[in-house]
Amino acid sequence: MANGWPLPDTTAQAQTAKDPIIIQFSHVVGADTAKGKAALKFKELAEARTAGRVRVEVYPDSTLYKDREELQALQIGAVQMLATSLSKLATVGGSDFEVFDLPFLFKDHAAFRAAVDGPVGATLLRRLEPSGLQGLAFWDNGFKVFTANRPLLSPADFRGIKIRIQSSRILVSQMKALGADVSIHPMANVYEALRSGQLDGQENVPTNIYSQHLHDVQSHLSVTRHGYLAYVVLVNRQFWNQLPYDIREALRLALHEATQYANSIAEAENQRALELLKASGKLTVHEPTAQMLALWRETLAPVYRQASAWIDPAMLAAIRASSAGAR
Ligand code: LMR
Repeated sequence: MANGWPLPDTTAQAQTAKDPIIIQFSHVVGADTAKGKAALKFKELAEARTAGRVRVEVYPDSTLYKDREELQALQIGAVQMLATSLSKLATVGGSDFEVFDLPFLFKDHAAFRAAVDGPVGATLLRRLEPSGLQGLAFWDNGFKVFTANRPLLSPADFRGIKIRIQSSRILVSQMKALGADVSIHPMANVYEALRSGQLDGQENVPTNIYSQHLHDVQSHLSVTRHGYLAYVVLVNRQFWNQLPYDIREALRLALHEATQYANSIAEAENQRALELLKASGKLTVHEPTAQMLALWRETLAPVYRQASAWIDPAMLAAIRASSAGAR
């Protein structure tokens, strides 16, 4: 039992193809995104490697749970697996998970990977354990852009508008530095909140914008690449530890391959989504000049100072040191 919720019996008879162990893998974005495709790749590999003794059911697009609910569901064992954004993990793993939200922290995907593939990543994953969670891998997504129902060409354009963010104090500081109002919404509610005018804009990666049809309710997109979105793949720790050893190792291998797949497609998927957004003709895409980007950086620089109140400076220094060596 985990918090009173019965976990599936994985120890005895439930290990045959006739009576497989079920892994419910919940996530909050479309099946046609890098995360959605990687979850399906994991399913394919996991089922093949365990010869059907495990069945993976993937539930995309918040069909089972929304952002915060899915973490609670994992903790009580109502689902077994998630791939949750780093921003949302501060509630269960501590505030250092937010460090990845610092504006303009990574210059490219390799810089992010260099940070999480070493001791920083391992340290963060360990911090999930007291919450009953086992972090198994980091999956890339990519760089965020802004959309709104007005052009966002410079920081001054944010004054007085309401922007959706994920639940992260650093993202609150970021939007305050730009002079915007913030509102934390689960991914599943963003489209409707933008459509109804409850929100004016949001930040996300192109794949999420395209797959959630946010371009139908937004008229402008600025390719600021100001922040990075990535995930931890995590399981209920008790469920994981109760798995028979051979099954757990087969799943580990399947996840390793699915992780390589996820990280190999993320950048191209976002590039393709950006092209599709441009081709849709539904919103105007703005590419900031180097001069404008310098202004964004300058405006957002105070976020680092503010975040030092709750982010461990050693963690940030370690990330910077690993990223600097990335190529
Ligand atoms: C968001 O809420 O914007 C993202 O975390 C969604 C996701 O999982 O990519």
